[in-house]
Amino acid sequence: MATRKVTAAPPVMDGVSTPGMPAGVVAAGAAVPDDILTNAELERMVETSDEWIVKRTGIRERRIAPEGIAASHLGVRAARDALGKAGMKPVDLELIIVATVTGDMPAPSTACLLQEKIGAPHAACFDLSAGCTGFLYALSVAGHMVAYGNFSCAMVVGVEVLSRVTDWSDRGTCVLFGDGAGAVIVKPASPGSGILSVHLGSDGGAADLLKIPGGGSLHPASARTVEDGLHTLKMNGREIFTLAVRNMAESVTRALKDAGCTLDEVDCLIPHQANLRIIKSLCGRVGFPMEKTAVNIGEYGNTSSASIPLALVDAEERGMLAAGDLAVLASFGAGLTWGAMVLRWGETDGCTSGGTGDGESAIGEGD
Ligand code: UT7
Repeated sequence: MATRKVTAAPPVMDGVSTPGMPAGVVAAGAAVPDDILTNAELERMVETSDEWIVKRTGIRERRIAPEGIAASHLGVRAARDALGKAGMKPVDLELIIVATVTGDMPAPSTACLLQEKIGAPHAACFDLSAGCTGFLYALSVAGHMVAYGNFSCAMVVGVEVLSRVTDWSDRGTCVLFGDGAGAVIVKPASPGSGILSVHLGSDGGAADLLKIPGGGSLHPASARTVEDGLHTLKMNGREIFTLAVRNMAESVTRALKDAGCTLDEVDCLIPHQANLRIIKSLCGRVGFPMEKTAVNIGEYGNTSSASIPLALVDAEERGMLAAGDLAVLASFGAGLTWGAMVLRWGETDGCTSGGTGDGESAIGEGD
């Protein structure tokens, strides 16, 4: 198992060494498809029940992208929402990182496709794959790149169209996942604000617990791989459950320690939305109140890389998270990967989160 504490070397501002990373999130945007798939509809597709799904997962419905809508389309809507809220234009972007396991295609990157769609000619673009922890990993990378002064404005997009890799005959997985996108704008922050610490971990020894085996160089797409269902998601949910709670709890504790903060100071916990029971177990284990924890799994299910930015936007809209608040993000996913980040929300050099955006987020058709 490889667990790494990730902290940038203390940056120097005004000749003074300051703790933490001087990069922060100025705005967050979201986008989900219009089409809703309810538990009642799933009852007609596989042997399951609304009661089982709600009791075991907390999920009531999820969004499904219509045919022809890919990750870049959803990502564009979330990107425009975030840029609008930040009062920025796509030409201002110098870096775009897209976290996804369901990109439009293996090459080119979904980040490049999204760049072209929104018109961000000055951005360097790449995708990052870290399962459901992808958004947290990508935000960490963007934070470091901005903190070191190479990029003054970055966008991180977490997007998934998991409905395309779901085995709709497998009740163990098809009730869990949904489609969606979220995006955040990352800019230099004042000392003591923005991203204060990050803790990331991974364990390739547990890779078999969650995977999409087909379509890569090991099992290239063929009639046989399709026949064998290798292009759909396979999961050992029970084992992941235990590891998820343990590893997220450890990351939260270590990230808080590295930030020099205590749990009492945290205004809002934004966990990956995989299972309400996992979220409750995490809160119980670290001793954090559910009332201050962002939960929207009931409406969207598990949207993997999109789940944290979707929950961030939700938390802001519900008044759980405001500029200056101390937030903790925590996630886990395929790899296995996990991590946590402590950040002072929305306070950066002269910018605050929210603002002038028109907040367009519904997805009905392609861009
Ligand atoms: O983002 C990271 C990705 N993955 C995860 O986060 C998954 C983490 N794991 C979980 O969320 C949970 O383990 C699940 C929701 C996947 C499953 O819940 P569980 O309480 O761990 O159920 P289980 O796998 O232990 O299965 C209990 C029973 C089994 O029946 P038997 O063997 O007791 O007769 C399953 O066959 O529930 C059955 N079952 C279902 N029944 C109705 C499994 N799926 C369903 C279903 N409807 N959809």
